[in-house]
Amino acid sequence: MKAVILVGGEGTRLRPLTVNAPKPMIPVLNRPFLEHVLDYLRRYGINDVILSMGYRSEVITNHFGDGRDFGVNLLYVHEETPLGTAGAVKNAEQHLDGTCFVFNGDILTSLDLGAMLEFHRQKKSMVTISLVPVEDPTAYGLVELDDDRRVQRFIEKPTWDRVTTNLVNAGTYIVEPEVFRYVPPKLYYMFEHGLFPVLLQTGDPMYGYPSNCYWIDIGTPQKYLGLHRDLLTGRAETVMPGKRLKEGVWVDAECDIDPTAHLVSPVVLGKGVAIGPHSTITGPVVMGDGCRVGRDSVVEDAVIWRETRVGNSVTMKTCVVGEGSQIDDHCWITGGAIIGDHCLVGANNKMEHAIRIWPGKSIGPGTITF
Ligand code: GDD
Ligand code: MG
Repeated sequence: MKAVILVGGEGTRLRPLTVNAPKPMIPVLNRPFLEHVLDYLRRYGINDVILSMGYRSEVITNHFGDGRDFGVNLLYVHEETPLGTAGAVKNAEQHLDGTCFVFNGDILTSLDLGAMLEFHRQKKSMVTISLVPVEDPTAYGLVELDDDRRVQRFIEKPTWDRVTTNLVNAGTYIVEPEVFRYVPPKLYYMFEHGLFPVLLQTGDPMYGYPSNCYWIDIGTPQKYLGLHRDLLTGRAETVMPGKRLKEGVWVDAECDIDPTAHLVSPVVLGKGVAIGPHSTITGPVVMGDGCRVGRDSVVEDAVIWRETRVGNSVTMKTCVVGEGSQIDDHCWITGGAIIGDHCLVGANNKMEHAIRIWPGKSIGPGTITF
């Protein structure tokens, strides 16, 4: 069976992390998020994958090529202007050859695709939507079901006073291609506001498949950090990269960790990472290849992309720093701060409160207290 993955969105809520790379390419455990998604599909024998592309598509094609190195056959379908979620799949209709999976490209899940497919066939459904219960449904599409799990109503991203269920659209669909006759070609058209409500009117069978699987949408920096916490603590299953140095600490080749530095699990260090004297890395922390931390620094609950340098006596806690950046001595980067790629943060800056610094910015010493 083929799968279509929607990877055309601009990832606006994740900016500045998605300024240089589209959302599917941002690193998770030091490799592009989409690699984790393809690993998951391969486990279900799904090898034929169509990527529906838009924003910064060249970053994806350059990395994945024809997919051979990743154990899949990739077909790229491009759109000149965003076609919306349903319009994007309609745009790939000629490549579909029967029942297919459709995935939002920013979801990591342990959903049992085999069981969902069996449910879809048993119900003779035209569209089956995976659903998960969440604490705050207002950021998602709510789906109301009847006792037979047939879809009754959609409420996309409601305010709290309109919330009627905690079950939300989990962004994985099984679709019979016939439904694309309702989708206008080459026009912006969404599943959520367009096709799904139309199918309720036409009476085509559409079912929800609730499950208590692991599920996360990485669409915001908080969720991106949350995914790392889940992977590192084992809440979400994965294969850890590198070599296990001790319980909960995985390091890649050529790391240089000073004997007086402390690594407190769970920690993942990429290739060639250096940690200086008396610095403490308290997990969950992931550092990309070539990162360096000076002396007497503290890094905790952070994701730092490749080739970033952290000076001496720096405190970093609950933050993300893009690749090739430099954080000079005595900086304090905490409270959900997000620093883009290739930034230079001079000494003695204090950044908290989810501040976001765009790529390439240079901030002089002692400039920001936020
Ligand atoms: N090709 C293409 N073209 N892809 C697109 C387009 C487009 O015009 N617009 C969005 N996408 C892709 C995004 O890249 C992402 O992978 C996926 O479609 C979903 O878009 P998001 O922008 O992440 O949507 P959302 O998270 O706000 O809401 C959707 O997902 C929720 C689950 O995470 C909706 O489907 C909600 O109903 C759902 O609950
Ligand atoms: Mg999303």
